[in-house]
Amino acid sequence: MNRRYRKTIIAGNWKMNKTLSETKAFADELKPLIGKPKWCEVVLCVPSVNLQAAVRLFKESRVAIGAETCHYESNGAFTGEVSAEMLKEIGVKYVIIGHSERRQYYNETDFTVNKKVHAALEAGLYPIVCVGESLEQRELGVTMDLISYQVKAALAGVPADKMRHVVIAYEPIWAIGTGKTATAEQANEVCEAIRAVIRKLYGARVARSVTIQYGGSMNAKNAQELLAQPDVDGGLIGGASLKAPDFVQIINAANQE
Ligand code: 13P
Repeated sequence: MNRRYRKTIIAGNWKMNKTLSETKAFADELKPLIGKPKWCEVVLCVPSVNLQAAVRLFKESRVAIGAETCHYESNGAFTGEVSAEMLKEIGVKYVIIGHSERRQYYNETDFTVNKKVHAALEAGLYPIVCVGESLEQRELGVTMDLISYQVKAALAGVPADKMRHVVIAYEPIWAIGTGKTATAEQANEVCEAIRAVIRKLYGARVARSVTIQYGGSMNAKNAQELLAQPDVDGGLIGGASLKAPDFVQIINAANQE
């Protein structure tokens, strides 16, 4: 973290978990536990069917609501999809773009990720853009090349003045849902490299202001060490965001003065 230059953001990604009643129960449990974190922003990304309720449930709290994906067109014949405008109008603030599960199961490509980033920014949402390598790619030694390509492709055509709305999440695929976390050094190394790519594209001022999260089996135990790294500005948390006490411990790790 480096709070002098950029926001620390702790974001939960619920994926396809929690019904409406479970969402309500979680809100009731979380709200008294988190209070008003001063040093970090808290986000919960929930399934689209529960977004409107989540916005309402967390209205008077410091928790912002995010979607898990959106379409790149603003409207049209795209059965089952939701546009960035629709999300914005119901009070959603963030949207995850290009999560590796979307890339793997729903054929999202760097090209569609880029179009979605533009759509999100145009609608006034804050995209959380996910990048990350597979185990094979890490073992081949191409992690940095791949990440650099993913970041450049995702941000193609995004002007510098929009970059203050963009969050990047480094999520090594081999660490997602596996209980295998990147070491703090590995996480920082890639987050630092992402910042270097942004520096080349937009200059030092923009680069140092962009929030770059780590995601992949972050939990109450390892959060503090990961967040202590200078280029790790928060977390994108799957499993550990589903239990309010665990999520609060991660928030507390980020919220230390
Ligand atoms: P886990 O925290 O369950 O590994 O999931 C990480 C993730 O994919 C967040 O987007």
